[in-house]
Amino acid sequence: MTRPVLTFFNNKSGVGKTMLAYHIAWMLSELGKTVVVVDLDPQANLTASFLEDERVGQLWDHGHTVYGSLAPLFEGEGGIADPHIEDITRRLALDNFMAFAPDALTPLGGYPGGEDKAREFVKAIYANVPVLDTGARGATVTFVERGVGDVLLAWENEAFLAQREFGKDKFEIVSPPLSILAEPPLSVVDAVADKKGTRAVAEAYLKYWYSREGQEIAARNSYRPRDSEIAKEYEKSFAKVELFTIDDVFGGWAKAQKEHFAEGGIFDQIYKN
Ligand SMILES: Nc1ncnc2c1ncn2[C@@H]1O[C@H](COP(=O)(O)OP(=O)(O)OP(=O)(O)O)[C@@H](O)[C@H]1O
Ligand SMILES: [Mg+2]
Repeated sequence: MTRPVLTFFNNKSGVGKTMLAYHIAWMLSELGKTVVVVDLDPQANLTASFLEDERVGQLWDHGHTVYGSLAPLFEGEGGIADPHIEDITRRLALDNFMAFAPDALTPLGGYPGGEDKAREFVKAIYANVPVLDTGARGATVTFVERGVGDVLLAWENEAFLAQREFGKDKFEIVSPPLSILAEPPLSVVDAVADKKGTRAVAEAYLKYWYSREGQEIAARNSYRPRDSEIAKEYEKSFAKVELFTIDDVFGGWAKAQKEHFAEGGIFDQIYKN
């Protein structure tokens, strides 16, 4: 993921550089961007804009300002101290020394409370799962028809399906503000199509999915259309959710697969213990 850096420059002091950075950072975070603000001012003005006086005092006392990070070096007492990252909101973090912090910046600018907290959270969710079905439809049946569990974590279209079949008053759909873009692939399998002599019809079917008509059918069945015009028409049917990709945040599927789902990966560690 590329991380644009915005700079406001002016030689003159006291003209509002810091204030501008502060307001732009808030604005971008409110617009759904993940923002890291870096305060490299020894006076920590930007830090003071974001935080209560008491917290600024604590950071100062613990050397968590750029001045504090550099002090050991200046005073000949050692190297540069570790940077500090302060979560302001889920989308906004304050950093006192970006140059040394990229590794500390977790994918979305920091899991609130750190990665360990994120793992604990996911672990706690699994600890509450009475039935872990092997597929989405199975999970829907378990929850909707057999009435097992208080909450179903499901694909959006499954949630809408449950409402359509059993009544809007039966299930409340709660959409998260942020989620992973899930795009099940559609593809013609060459070997099978050629062996069966069905290539023409298979390709026509594949193309039909992306036609206006096909996209309209998808939208009516609660799949978010790819076609931007149809998506606009059906905008009101879907909650506004900011979507990110595995490429954006987890460095691509190959890396994510290895880290999270391979033998002994994060999922195993969470699920087995
Ligand atoms: N648009 C504005 N309206 C009113 N006051 C403002 C505005 N912009 C900045 N200020 C105030 O002016 C003062 C100086 O602003 P700021 O600290 O952002 O300047 P700066 O350019 O970062 O200064 P320095 O060079 O000292 O870092 C602050 O007290 C700030 O709150
Ligand atoms: Mg300033």
